[in-house]
Amino acid sequence: MKIALASDHGGFELKNGLRDYLSDEGYEVVDLGTESGESVDYPVYGKKCAEYVVSGQADKGIVVCGTGIGIGIAANKVHGARCAVVASETHAFFAKNHNDANLIALGERTTELEDAKLYVDTWLQTKFDGGERHARRVKLLDDM
Ligand code: RB5
Repeated sequence: MKIALASDHGGFELKNGLRDYLSDEGYEVVDLGTESGESVDYPVYGKKCAEYVVSGQADKGIVVCGTGIGIGIAANKVHGARCAVVASETHAFFAKNHNDANLIALGERTTELEDAKLYVDTWLQTKFDGGERHARRVKLLDDM
């Protein structure tokens, strides 16, 4: 599985930690930036990562900013992106199981690396429920 990651400066350290973790776990990882802690604009990176996933260049995407909120909003502006802000294991599970999220957004100010690894693993290992009502709702999202 190929996973794309991107962050602004506020998510730079957590993004790098997750990139190294996922790479060690054997995933193919693409780091779309940012490349330093210098201030950048999160919409640029949320859009970049979501476009990368929606175009099929990666299977899934992880975006990180200070809270996950801004970069998650940006990712969801890209048609076909279903990006869930994840701040707990429960969020991670349902992001996949009910919403079939193809990206998740995490916050470096709100989530420690060890917790983020757990959330990412949960999201990656959970299966989409696949039941008619969830499939219908995901299709309604994609048709917007
Ligand atoms: C940047 O200071 C900060 O606003 C950003 O990382 C993010 O938290 C926005 O939602």
